[in-house]
Formats: sequence, C-alpha cells, structure tokens
Amino acid sequence: MDHDIKDITLAAAGKLRIEWAERSMPVLRMIRERFSKEKPLSGIVLAACLHVTTETASLVRTLSAGGAKVYLCASNPLSTQDDVAAALVSEGFNVFSIKGEDTETYYKHINACLDVKPNISMDDGADLVSSIHSKRQDLVKNIIGGTEETTTGVIRLKSMADSNVLLFPVIAVNDSNTKHFFDNRYGTGQSTIDGILRATNRLLAGSWFVVSGYGWCGRGLASRASGMGARVIVTEVDPLRALEAAMDGYSVMPMAQAAPVGDFFCTVTGDRSVIRKEHFELMKDGAIVSNSGHFNVEIDIESLEKLAVTRRIIRDFVEEFTMPDGRRITLLGEGRLINLAAAEGHPSSVMDMSFANQALASEFLVKNGSTLSKKVHKLPDHVDNEIAKLKLESMGIRIDTLTPEQEQYLNSWQMGT
Ligand code: ADE
Repeated sequence: MDHDIKDITLAAAGKLRIEWAERSMPVLRMIRERFSKEKPLSGIVLAACLHVTTETASLVRTLSAGGAKVYLCASNPLSTQDDVAAALVSEGFNVFSIKGEDTETYYKHINACLDVKPNISMDDGADLVSSIHSKRQDLVKNIIGGTEETTTGVIRLKSMADSNVLLFPVIAVNDSNTKHFFDNRYGTGQSTIDGILRATNRLLAGSWFVVSGYGWCGRGLASRASGMGARVIVTEVDPLRALEAAMDGYSVMPMAQAAPVGDFFCTVTGDRSVIRKEHFELMKDGAIVSNSGHFNVEIDIESLEKLAVTRRIIRDFVEEFTMPDGRRITLLGEGRLINLAAAEGHPSSVMDMSFANQALASEFLVKNGSTLSKKVHKLPDHVDNEIAKLKLESMGIRIDTLTPEQEQYLNSWQMGT
C-alpha cells in the first residue's frame, strides 16, 4: 500500500486550495527555495503525522524540495482535508488519511508511515513517538530524532524524557516563540471561533462564552470571542493564569458556577474531563459544548451519552443530546478539535511560522541529531528570531535597530543613570 485516501478525483480542487494557502506562506516558500538548492534533507525518510491540510501540503512540498522522502498520515481522525490528501498523492507523495477514519484505520495509517523505517518522526500530538516506543522499538536504530508541533505532545514527551524512557531526541517546535505566541494564540483563537460558527451559524454577540484553560490557546480564544461581542467567562486551575484572565477583563469562576450561565463552552486545557456529568446536569437548554484541545478527552462524552434519553445529528458536526428533563445539550464535532473538524484549522499565514519551524527543525536534526541527548530540545533562539525577521519582512514591516550608544548602554553595568 503506497497510499490510502478517500478519492483521487478530488486532487484538482485540493491543488487550487494549496495554491491559495501558499500565497500566505512566504517564509516557508523562502525556505523551500533554499532547500531546493541545498538539499539539506537528502536521503532522509521522514514520517509525518500531522493534520492533513493545505498548510501541511505546503510543508510536505518543502521537506521534499529539501530532499526528504515524506510519508504522511493524519494526527486526528477528523481533521483530514480529503482534497489535499488527493492532491498530494497526485504529486507522488505517500499519504494515508481519510477524514472520519475509525480508530483502527487511524493506527493502520500511522503504522504504514512507520513501516518505511523513518529517520525523522514529525508529530502533532506525539502519536508516532508513542507508537514507536510502545510497539515498534526496532525502528529506533534508524531514527535521528523527532519533532513535535503541539503543547499536548510536548507535555507527553517531556514526561517520557523525565522518566528516562525517551529513546531519541525530539525538537519541541511548540516551544519556539514564533510558534506558540502566534499559532496557539491567534491561530487557535480565530480558527476555533471559525469552527464553532461554521458548525452552528449562531450569533456570538451578547452570548455567554465559557473558555476552559487560559494558556496561549485560551488567551487567544477568549480575546476573539470577546471581540465578537461575547461575554467571556474563563475557568482555570492555575492561580497565576486565573489572575491574568481576571486582569485581562474576563469573569473567572469554577466550571460548576459557569455551567448554568454559558451559551457556548470550549475547552482548551490539554487535560481530561474538564466538562463532566455534574456540569452537564447544570447546563441550560441549548448549551453548545466544544473542544479545541488536541485530544477528545476534555469533554466527558461518555457521561453525556449516559445522561441523554435521546440523541440526534441535527447539522454536520452538531449532535443534540436530550436530557430526561427535556434540556438539550449540543456537542460539536464529536468533542474533537473543532477548528479542524468543522473548519480548516489555523489560517495559512500563522501556519507559515509554525511550519517554518518544522522545516528548520528537520534540518537541525540532520545536522546536529547525533550530538543531542535523548531529551526534548528547543530550536536555537537565532533560528526562532530569523523566522520572526523573515515574517516581518514579508509583511512589509521594518523595525528600528539599536544605535551603538544604545547597544553599549544595554551591555554595560556601570551606567546606572
Ligand atoms: N493545526 C492547526 N491548524 C492547522 C493547519 N491549518 N494545518 C495543520 N495543522 C494545524
């Protein structure tokens, strides 16, 4: 099997959408030009487990331009854009992903990408790394290292490294400033609202919008919901983040207090069972519940299913559960990340920076992998800063530089006045 996708006839539509996305990805385009000349990934087999989107297609083309042989599977069963998968297969790439695939197919596709004995694993959520460590340790001898895109994956990997069970170095792309400051905040903020609106077509203005978790994603989501006129409530477990949310102007309260108030709920915590039975019992008729965290564990769907007397799909990605007392609670996108299930994920211009980090992380692993410890590493600051510089340039934004006098002032400890 060299690919497994929904329908190859979707390729032409996929190609056009990739072309559109690439117009907003100038940094990745520049990296691709350099990669085509220098071929830094020559001879590398790279298994990528990412959301199969137009932006990912652009990354795959870039890695391939650098000389890598790329095998791609999905990092979530519901996030694949089938036309993109088809377009990539039509260009000769090996893609294994179908939107809506069941769990068995999802892992079959992951294994298809591992069967090729990759030298680099590229993850969004650490499913490749965890499959390798739990079932396919024979592959470790071929692996230079891995890269990881997302907060949840980095948390998983750091706990593996802390327990000394990580068998190769991994670059935490998420830890670059040009990734989490922008993708997690502005990307998740906009695309989550996009997913909720495409699924429901409801008005946010005047509604109560409950954001669970005030990390970078929660900050972005709260700010965008507020910008659309919603009254935002934040729930948190971390005192510092809760304080920040309060001082950013949001109402902060426990979920049990927010549950009867919210019209919309969206979890972005990275933890499990954040919305559970005792909260569903308090929600008002019509409450809309969604998740934009990596895994579909943040909403306790099992307890919602148990509480319900009936359930029905009322629109695409919208399932209504009726409680014994007649209240209807609506779950979006099966509790999977709503920005990719019901919309198209983060806009291209923010993925430009995330995937510039992924491309440069692969190059960094080829150059330095053999000297890195079996831990989770950041990309060097100069790489992160270079991405910021290129992005600014592409936006036509110029900034000041330090004068020699200013530089001297900043570098000296004598000049207190
Ligand atoms: N994660 C969030 N948005 C994404 C996108 N557009 N492409 C790939 N991964 C994503």
